[in-house]
Amino acid sequence: MTAGRLSGAVALVTGASSGIGAAAAGRLAAVGARVFVTGRDPDRLAEVAGRTAGTALAYDLTRPDRAAELAARVLSAAGRIDILVNNAGQGWAGPLVGMTDAEIVDLVTVNLTAPMLLTRAALPGMLSRGRGHLGFVGSIAGRLGVREEAAYSAAKAGLGVFAESLRQEVAGRGVVVTELVPGVVATRFFDRRGRPYQRRSPRPVPAERAADVLLAALLAGRDEAYLPGWLRLPVALRGALPRAYRALAGRYG
Ligand SMILES: NC(=O)c1ccc[n+]([C@@H]2O[C@H](COP(=O)([O-])OP(=O)(O)OC[C@H]3O[C@@H](n4cnc5c(N)ncnc54)[C@H](OP(=O)(O)O)[C@@H]3O)[C@@H](O)[C@H]2O)c1
Repeated sequence: MTAGRLSGAVALVTGASSGIGAAAAGRLAAVGARVFVTGRDPDRLAEVAGRTAGTALAYDLTRPDRAAELAARVLSAAGRIDILVNNAGQGWAGPLVGMTDAEIVDLVTVNLTAPMLLTRAALPGMLSRGRGHLGFVGSIAGRLGVREEAAYSAAKAGLGVFAESLRQEVAGRGVVVTELVPGVVATRFFDRRGRPYQRRSPRPVPAERAADVLLAALLAGRDEAYLPGWLRLPVALRGALPRAYRALAGRYG
């Protein structure tokens, strides 16, 4: 990441009160961006905002009307959004029948609907300036589907296809669309979803590493970045040989 390219750029990072988003906000601020950090926890947001000389905006993105309000506040304060990092997300582990209707709706709203609405709000300015960066934090779960994470996997799959489709729509107009596809990142994500990470592979990577990979790909104009990179292999296997993939997934989970 080069400081010159980002000096003065306005960045909105969702899920910036914790984990990957907090790390991404720190990295963006370090190279000169003016960051707006959002999440729900006001204390942790204030800490990140203080560390990044940024602006804290507490919003619960399970409420669809909140996304438009959040974007409007940033646009009103800064006049534009140059970089939007759609990172906020929640997981949920367990059988689908164990979820309430409200839990399903909230999960889809924060992981998929809110990024779509925020992107919808930030994009017109980016297109008129002929410049902008849209970052999405997806998941390998959205590429492969994971047992007992059906709603989360579906929301992340939707996010990935949204990014893919939008990339085609804005091609040649100066707006970069990048998706980070992480495997496992060492954050509070697993504790919060109520089931710790128990597999041996892939091994958790630090949140700072995930943020670096995302922002490097975003600024280089790359379409997607897997973390670790070898996660492309099961995705390719599933595409090319779905029955073989399912047999392996059924055996190894
Ligand atoms: N950790 C992993 O292994 C992993 C793997 C693949 C993908 N991901 C994705 O990476 C992204 C970041 O997660 P993380 O690992 O950094 O986990 P994290 O430490 O739990 O951070 C999640 C962030 O999202 C925010 N958030 C959650 N629900 C929200 C809501 N309803 N409204 C507004 N903000 C909300 C949280 O804000 P508050 O804390 O203030 O509520 C927090 O800032 C998520 O989209 C997640 O799905 C994570």
